[in-house]
Amino acid sequence: ETVEWDPEQAGKGEYDHFMLKEIHEQPTSLAQAIEGRIDTRNDRIALSDFEPGTFDDVESVQFVACGTSYHAALYGSLGLNQAGVRSTALLANEYSVSAPPVDDDTLVIAVTQSGETADTLNALRQATAEGARTLTVTNVVGSTAAREADDALFIRAGPEIGVAATKTFSSQAVMLTLLCQRIAADRQGEPPADLESLLPAVESMPSALDEVLDSSDAAAIARQYDDSQSYFFIGRGLGFPVALEGALKFKEITYEHAEGFASGELKHGPLALVTPDTPVFAIFTGQEDEKTLKNAEEAQTRGAPVVAVCPDEHAAVAVADEHLAIPDTNAKLAGLLANVQLQLVSYHAADLLDRPIDKPRNLAKSVTVE
Ligand code: AGP
Repeated sequence: ETVEWDPEQAGKGEYDHFMLKEIHEQPTSLAQAIEGRIDTRNDRIALSDFEPGTFDDVESVQFVACGTSYHAALYGSLGLNQAGVRSTALLANEYSVSAPPVDDDTLVIAVTQSGETADTLNALRQATAEGARTLTVTNVVGSTAAREADDALFIRAGPEIGVAATKTFSSQAVMLTLLCQRIAADRQGEPPADLESLLPAVESMPSALDEVLDSSDAAAIARQYDDSQSYFFIGRGLGFPVALEGALKFKEITYEHAEGFASGELKHGPLALVTPDTPVFAIFTGQEDEKTLKNAEEAQTRGAPVVAVCPDEHAAVAVADEHLAIPDTNAKLAGLLANVQLQLVSYHAADLLDRPIDKPRNLAKSVTVE
């Protein structure tokens, strides 16, 4: 007797798609990423991957990356600026025509899940040739980026099969948050002021992710808005890269039109697109939330339904048409919990449309051409 056995199907376990499986792996993959890397007892980031004082001489940081990794890079860059170190996030495919000058005090950080993205490797090589110091934040040990950069920080997310990056984004963003605190601490000779509250929040992230995954209303929200014309995502500060990522994920797997905006940009043009057929997902991270709420209300006044992604006790809940709940956490991490809700909305929206979720048309997991 023979048993039909499809290895790909078996790899998905109880899930219909690798994407859903990988979304649900996030509490575990994140726990793996932070394991042994933070030291809450002494209120300092361990990141024992790097010797003490490794980043003493870093004057400024340039992040280079593409797609979802670019959104993680933007997340890291905003965090670094807020910690007092000059930094910028650049699209790797624009680097050859737009890179700001570098010298040996510039740290160029290539953020790449695969470590094989041609655009990102090109930017890394250009930075090396121009004399910058380089580091890669990657998931793949032995990848080209890991071999070519001066240093590597591995995110330990495990293999990601779905073309849409999910668990690797969360791990990239958390590791970049830690790395940025460490760079700021080395540079300034003392840990950033809010580190004490950040570290326990990082440690609690796996259980906060579990809470989101166990109680998410994303499937119902996806169903409610399944015949909309466009889907908008807005956020401010660390919510902005999450808005961009929410929109990228949505368009990548649903094939529906989606856009992410900085909340304050809505009124500078995109508001003209807003109608009752364009739901607006508003991400609240605790950074000037009152302004984002005002921007969301401006869209609501034009008829758009607003879905607030925020904790239960947040002021936005009373204003919004719908609510996707996230546990209350440190402002540096709230956006990552919101992002998981948005991953689930995209997944369920794509599933309702019967899209080939793990292998969207025209896309490859690793883009090794320019
Ligand atoms: C995201 O869902 C995509 N698969 C894509 O944007 C991806 O993040 C990008 O191609 C960069 O890949 P990398 O992280 O392997 O460099």
